[in-house]
Amino acid sequence: MTTASQPLHQAEPIESKTLRNVCGLFVTGVTVITAGEGARSAGTTVNSFTSVSLDPPLILFCLHKESRLRTVLQETRTFVVNFLAGKQAPLAWTFATRDTAALQDVTHHRSAEGAPILSDAMAFLACRVANEFEGGDHTIFVGEVVELGVPRQNQEPLIFFRGSLSALEEELAGLHPIWDG
Ligand SMILES: Cc1cc2nc3c(=O)[nH]c(=O)nc-3n(C[C@H](O)[C@H](O)[C@H](O)COP(=O)(O)O)c2cc1C
Repeated sequence: MTTASQPLHQAEPIESKTLRNVCGLFVTGVTVITAGEGARSAGTTVNSFTSVSLDPPLILFCLHKESRLRTVLQETRTFVVNFLAGKQAPLAWTFATRDTAALQDVTHHRSAEGAPILSDAMAFLACRVANEFEGGDHTIFVGEVVELGVPRQNQEPLIFFRGSLSALEEELAGLHPIWDG
């Protein structure tokens, strides 16, 4: 057993729980990936989002093979990456739970291609599935960005660190958006 004060070091075989805990030390933002319509819609909380390429405009995320969103994506081939704001921690937990994630209960509107955009998200990227790659128990989805938006400037993001969700509020004071320069 390892206590908080002991250093951690592990070589093969790597335990899933330990890997998850160590990856949890890498601070990320939080997104909800949404797709589909009506009863065939789904949303899943995802922090494996990464921007890939500016030209062409590509992003990626990794989705568990048993995710309900996977089936929807395979039909629609379009999805939205919703960047959550600091106050949206309850929404992130809702979409991280298999039985309660009901898109119909959350305020949303549609992208030009018909994918659901969470209306209170900090920003969104609407994408077409450009490619899928095997990644162990996950599928790596690469999306081509076809529409994007930031409905309200200067909102603080939701961040994930060591298994907890919180708003990045104080650190933002004095920061300037990088897209101005
Ligand atoms: C902060 C956070 C980040 C997560 N990131 C991912 C992820 O990148 N990929 C993934 O497949 N699941 C991720 N999950 C887990 C899914 O949200 C969760 O398994 C969800 O219940 C799957 O339900 P679904 O079948 O509706 O997709 C994350 C959960 C949390 C709380």
